[in-house]
Amino acid sequence: MKQKIITNLLAGMAGLGIALGAATAHATPEADRQDLIKYYTEKYPNIKIDDYVYGALAFDADSKSQYDAIMEFPPYESDIDKGRKMWETPFKNGKTYADCLPNGGKQIAGNFPMFDDAKGKVVTLQMAINACRTANGEEAYKESDMKTMGLLTAYMRTLSDGMLMNVKVEGPKAMAAYEDGKRTFFSRAGQLNFACSSCHVQNAGNRLRSELISPAIGQAVHWPVFRGGDNLFTLQRRYEGCFKSVRAISAPQGSEQLNNLEYFHSSISNGLPMKASVFRK
Ligand code: HEC
Repeated sequence: MKQKIITNLLAGMAGLGIALGAATAHATPEADRQDLIKYYTEKYPNIKIDDYVYGALAFDADSKSQYDAIMEFPPYESDIDKGRKMWETPFKNGKTYADCLPNGGKQIAGNFPMFDDAKGKVVTLQMAINACRTANGEEAYKESDMKTMGLLTAYMRTLSDGMLMNVKVEGPKAMAAYEDGKRTFFSRAGQLNFACSSCHVQNAGNRLRSELISPAIGQAVHWPVFRGGDNLFTLQRRYEGCFKSVRAISAPQGSEQLNNLEYFHSSISNGLPMKASVFRK
């Protein structure tokens, strides 16, 4: 079985050389994004880049219409409501998240992750939320805790629905973090020896077992997702799952490696609209 999967995926790598342009170090982030768009549109001329926000559903009209039906009455609405209550409940000092995040926390998710020059590192939205908590005398949430950080961001991100992803990479330090994330994305890992790009670039639109593989562009705009209706996954929890699927050991959620990966991975979705909390299989 394992051998067969590998052979199938290798067969899908015929176009490898083309996408390698994107793996060249020191291309600008915008040039990387354009390279990827070119790669996907040459391979799938009938699919609009805007439709890649639907992930693998962009390749499968039947699944997309099932998805549309589910999204009319999302099965996870009560979870979003729990997140909303968390968002609205003041800290012990009477302040709220809206008081300490830019623009009251609205229409900002597309600016994250951002590079913080003073801290010299990438700051994810989760880190900004935790900074807000600790500045107000509350304990930080664990990033991998879906019942706290997961639910809170599930609501908070809805406040940015429709915003276009707008991750900036400016200055040499930001560029170094971006390059680090890009390296992770294009580096093979694990017993199966796959990179993220092996599946989500070279094999986007192909099947792995019964699953169609989504393109990397558009993957970062719709988090968290609820899988199977009520199983909440943040983006970095999904990264962890994909590392495990190739039998690689994932760095922990919230680690510099995954934050830098998220920085690169989000910037290639620049210009696409955010849509928090969607259903996935
Ligand atoms: C062996 C192939 C494989 C590798 C390697 C792989 N993934 Fe995945 N990934 C999948 C499959 C299959 C899915 C589920 C179908 C889909 O949505 O693409 C998925 C789903 C995802 C999703 C969710 C997409 C959505 O719209 O819900 C993200 C994000 C993702 N992968 C990122 C990554 C990253 C980042 C890496 C590298 C650390 C990676 N993947 C490595 C196969 C892979």
